[in-house]
Amino acid sequence: MKFFVDTADIAEIKGLLPTGLVDGVTTNPSLIMKSGRDFREVVAEICDLVDGPVSAEVTALEADKMISEGKSLAGIAENVCVKLPLTMDGITACNALSGEGIKTNVTLCFAANQALLAAKAGATFISPFIGRLDDINIDGMELIREIRMIYDNYDFRTEILAASIRSANHVKDSALFGADVATVPPGVLKGLASHPLTDKGLKAFLDDWAKTGQKII
Ligand code: G3P
Repeated sequence: MKFFVDTADIAEIKGLLPTGLVDGVTTNPSLIMKSGRDFREVVAEICDLVDGPVSAEVTALEADKMISEGKSLAGIAENVCVKLPLTMDGITACNALSGEGIKTNVTLCFAANQALLAAKAGATFISPFIGRLDDINIDGMELIREIRMIYDNYDFRTEILAASIRSANHVKDSALFGADVATVPPGVLKGLASHPLTDKGLKAFLDDWAKTGQKII
């Protein structure tokens, strides 16, 4: 399973790079606003730091304008992945941009039929929003399960990118249900290594080691 980091915060991305866990980055207009940075500038900087796909979202609502914005964003760097909303205009833009070999991430997916449209339009990634479904008492993981089954039934190449991840359990369940990628906020990603028994065990080992009076180097 690939991990993307869901942030436009350069310092957070830099901090995570040495772990080798960052396979890509996703941004959205809200994350750009939070960063306080110029959109094109921050996307270019992230693309320099990370080899994998970096999602940058269009803000137009009509297909022809989405296509123009998408082409412009794709010109920033080779690893830009154009993020498009799951509307019929977004699907039309996805079809056009994918046809030109531009990577696409169709976002704001909340239903299996929407994911089916994105795959038929040649999307590189489909982004089902797990957390936002859970927020309204609908099981986000059920959506991942349904999309996995549909994509496998027809050998669609579109990768399932579990998004709106809020917890470690969302990451685990996305992996169990066969999502290809999880885009994870930096805080959640860092928390994945935490376990109280690891901390307890490590402390006991180090206490005993101190009693030996030895050093490794
Ligand atoms: O990648 C989309 C994701 O950032 C949305 O997350 O927590 O705003 O629902 P959230």
